[in-house]
Amino acid sequence: MTKKMKKEAKVLSQKLLADGIFDLWLETEIAKDTCPGQFVGVYTVNKAALLPRPISVCEVNKEKTAIRLVYRVVGTGTAEFALYQPGDYMMILGPLGNGFPLEKAEGKRVVLMGGGIGVPPLLETAKRLGEGTDVITVMGYRNSETFLSDEFEKYSRLYIASDDGSVGTKGNVIDALKENKIDCDVIFACGPMPMLRGIKAYAQENGIKAYLSLEEKMACGVGACLGCICKTKKVDDHSHVKNARICTDGPVFDADDLDM
Ligand code: FES
Repeated sequence: MTKKMKKEAKVLSQKLLADGIFDLWLETEIAKDTCPGQFVGVYTVNKAALLPRPISVCEVNKEKTAIRLVYRVVGTGTAEFALYQPGDYMMILGPLGNGFPLEKAEGKRVVLMGGGIGVPPLLETAKRLGEGTDVITVMGYRNSETFLSDEFEKYSRLYIASDDGSVGTKGNVIDALKENKIDCDVIFACGPMPMLRGIKAYAQENGIKAYLSLEEKMACGVGACLGCICKTKKVDDHSHVKNARICTDGPVFDADDLDM
């Protein structure tokens, strides 16, 4: 596991990508060791909020000197981040979490499934897997604001689902998987809990191995708030209960190990 660092990061660019969703590039040493599916903790300037906000890494540049964060503004912390301009500095901690087990997809038919703000961490995953594999991605959006879809098209065969039916399959990512008769051995997914529950059930019924990122449930991201406990099938060696902390034990879990 890579060692996490708390570092100042320089804002290279920031723009609005879709309604309430921002696209931020940060120059940082942390980029060197960041794997797809990992996240960083971003600190607010307001010292009253001591704990950082977890934000997944969407992309790492080729030189591994910068990371891209695509995040939704959901509260005062992320609203503060949205105000940052090129040349400003932010304090970040990372890389955090385990990331997707890319080795499990080697030589297999893999489908990446993302929903809403679970879409961004799959972009770097698609890029890295796309170097040697035919990657299929299935992304779910609320409407026609299909942020990042043009970039997924560069690295994968992309299918889209939208809640209102304005783009792709009307419905969710599983509807799109069925409608397009997509066959696979492994699924990597990130998104809201109902979507992940549906994917776990679908994977079990069809003999597919699934790895799920539960990052949506995180609060502090650093093991301090216990707001991210999930139920697992295995008994934890330390606490002797069937629990795991998503931020420190995950955010990616083998779906077979989760009780959800
Ligand atoms: Fe706070 Fe995991 S998010 S302990």
